[in-house]
Amino acid sequence: MNNNMSGKGQQTKAIHAGESPENQNKASAPHICMSSTFVVDEPLSFSANNLEPDSPLIYTRWANPTIAQLEEKLATLENAESCVAFSSGMAASSSILLSLLNQGDHVVISNTNYPGTAEIARDTLPRFGIQSTPVDTSSLDDIRAAIQQNTKMIWTETPSNLLLRITNIAAAAEIAQQQDAILVVDSTFATPVATNPIELGADLVIHSLTKYIGGHGDALGGAVVGRQELTGPLRGEGLIHYGGVISPFNAWLIMRGMATLPLRMRVHQENAMSVAEYLENHPRVGRVLYPGLPTHPQHELAKSQMKNFSGMISFTTDQPHQDAARMMKELEIIHYAVSLGHHRSFIYLMETKDLIGSSYRLKGEEREKYKAVAGEGLFRFSVGLEDANDLIEDLRLILD
Ligand SMILES: Cc1ncc(COP(=O)(O)O)c(C=O)c1O
Repeated sequence: MNNNMSGKGQQTKAIHAGESPENQNKASAPHICMSSTFVVDEPLSFSANNLEPDSPLIYTRWANPTIAQLEEKLATLENAESCVAFSSGMAASSSILLSLLNQGDHVVISNTNYPGTAEIARDTLPRFGIQSTPVDTSSLDDIRAAIQQNTKMIWTETPSNLLLRITNIAAAAEIAQQQDAILVVDSTFATPVATNPIELGADLVIHSLTKYIGGHGDALGGAVVGRQELTGPLRGEGLIHYGGVISPFNAWLIMRGMATLPLRMRVHQENAMSVAEYLENHPRVGRVLYPGLPTHPQHELAKSQMKNFSGMISFTTDQPHQDAARMMKELEIIHYAVSLGHHRSFIYLMETKDLIGSSYRLKGEEREKYKAVAGEGLFRFSVGLEDANDLIEDLRLILD
């Protein structure tokens, strides 16, 4: 069968890329290859340093047929040369930071990232002689001002956790190129359905596959896509030496979820828009952040950079702690839980003092900017695939 996906649409790629009926009995659905090791019929080096992209299979921490199918599907959806899958989004992120940076290097990193990424940059990298400067990467001037002679990487997350800030990827890529630095984009909130950062000039793109790409809340995973020259060291160090390999079973589950990603993203967006409009008109709700709303401070940039506004909303209420306490007990459909991008809806109060204190340690003007938007805390609402009316009815139990 010809599995050439060039010129095909995203939904066709999501279903067929990386897969073809296996040779023996022509099964239409992919097999799961749960073997940890492979029988070798010619002498093979046991060193990660001698690994080539077409090396024969030897051990699943190096490569595995099911994981390779997932990698090919995601690389195809992102129009990228290559992909390496990991056991979680954090395994993917830490592998980039620890495999591609050296002692004495400097990173410019967005200051309202996923907290795990913020903490590893601030607390772990300095132990290896790598410094980072957290900035609001939605401001290109702030990125430029933070560049140092030894800046080797610019790291953005767009849309970013909680404040849903949008970074202009093409413009950030130009800054990175002038500095000969690697531009990394965490595109977990956007997914390849909304944005293809590689086409806009990014060097590496990260996804927490645990979120929209897997989409069903039953498997953790992560991935990095980009040029082979950059992903090769991630396989060699990040997988083979640090060991953050995904289980083939999880890879299979995630691949199954990916087949419906474009369809799901349409409904996530549709539902999020209905919920955002309901929230915006509610007297007890203060601020509603959703890139698809004309009131989002970067709605125009979001329109030009995102083909789908995804399903993440952040909002404030006039009594966040009481509302959160009631949500935990009284919501009937929406789960009061962390994580995002699943078919089920999740809501969670992210307290400002925790985020600007423990996670981001924002100071001065950036601290005030955050507080002005978030007040005491923002509810992060990952709008799922249930009927929008039912989600609004559930919110009414708390807000009306
Ligand atoms: C934007 C983003 N990147 C990375 C991660 C980490 O992913 P994982 O939980 O799969 O390690 C998360 C988790 O919430 C996230 O929101």
